Amino acid sequence: MTIPTAALHTAAERFGTPLYVYDAAELDAALARVRAAFGPARVYYAMKANPNLSLLRRLHGAGVGFECVSSGEIARAEAVGAIGPQLLVNGPAKSDAEYAAGARLSATFIVDRVEEVNLLPPQSRALVRVNPALAVSTHDHLATGAAGSKFGVTLQQAPNVLDALRVAGHTALGLHVHIGSAIRDAHDFTAAFGRLSELRQQTGPLAVLDAGGGWGLDADLYGIAREAWATAGVFGAELWVEPGRYLVARAGTLLTRVVGSKRAGRNFCLVDAGMTELMRPMLYGAVHPVQALWDGQERENWDIAGPACESGDLLARDIPLPHPKRGELLAIGEAGAYGAAMSSNYLTRSRPAEALWNGEKWSLIRRRETPQDVWAAEV
Ligand code: LLP
Repeated sequence: MTIPTAALHTAAERFGTPLYVYDAAELDAALARVRAAFGPARVYYAMKANPNLSLLRRLHGAGVGFECVSSGEIARAEAVGAIGPQLLVNGPAKSDAEYAAGARLSATFIVDRVEEVNLLPPQSRALVRVNPALAVSTHDHLATGAAGSKFGVTLQQAPNVLDALRVAGHTALGLHVHIGSAIRDAHDFTAAFGRLSELRQQTGPLAVLDAGGGWGLDADLYGIAREAWATAGVFGAELWVEPGRYLVARAGTLLTRVVGSKRAGRNFCLVDAGMTELMRPMLYGAVHPVQALWDGQERENWDIAGPACESGDLLARDIPLPHPKRGELLAIGEAGAYGAAMSSNYLTRSRPAEALWNGEKWSLIRRRETPQDVWAAEV
């Protein structure tokens, strides 16, 4: 994150806290890193990571397509003008509405189970998601390519599903694999792609290999890209990828104000954001970098605690900080992916505002909700 500290203070003043801020330059840089590593692979942004329309417009403008997993996400893609080859419709339990919307926009479907062959709209373009049944180096909740996860068809089923698609009059474009998210060890990808390659004899050549996303922020993109292209080569296929986190995580920071502090067994720095704004620490034990935007000589370790009435509502533990004073700002980094996207209205909390920094000035890209927004759908 390269937004100047003075600009962060300005944003907090202007838009209030808790506030998600994004650095457009970092978003562009992340996309450039992906393109440098993956060359001509087609990039589909997994918008679940951050579906803000302004970010989608920017990515769409840069030629990126979208992976969508709900009617809402399909509607967002349509709202920014994505259509046809720019759209993937994915998900383990698609609704009639999702098939219909995908068909209307000529999207490509990712088939997740055998029965879906008969549920697809007529003459669909489809990829078959394969579960390579491997151990994956990430939190259990984030491992989708492990045996026993609910995703994809088995390696044994995959060639038959491709055939069944053709028999049913669909276009069977190829195979899809996504083994999980925030994957630390690039060898996991090597292993998964390897399992897919073994299917070549049965499937014959294919038009597309979709290697999914899941790249940890420190992952060796060039290594993953090399393996993905090698596997695409085995099938004579073009390569598609679906990064979510990698494109947006580092661009985003959650700004939160110190409400106060307390010493009770541990040192608690109480802030105005918590599990409702950033669920990842509580849900996955995720560790986000925390930076104090105030000065002070002596540092002690503080737990960063939110306002929710749940003891798990901690954003971080044992963070060395100068003594926290009410009104000071904390910046919680690597929060652009699955931060705002997973924020909730629990406790009738208004979801935070979001602002984009273009290097010179701020634009508000989502206003803070009001309590009336939160209950607007209630009778
Ligand atoms: N493709 C498919 C089929 C996916 O299911 C996902 C993410 C992606 C691509 C993008 O994965 P990424 O590159 O962002 O790792 N809420 C969790 C992450 C859940 C990811 C779900 N699927 C978190 O906060 O870490």
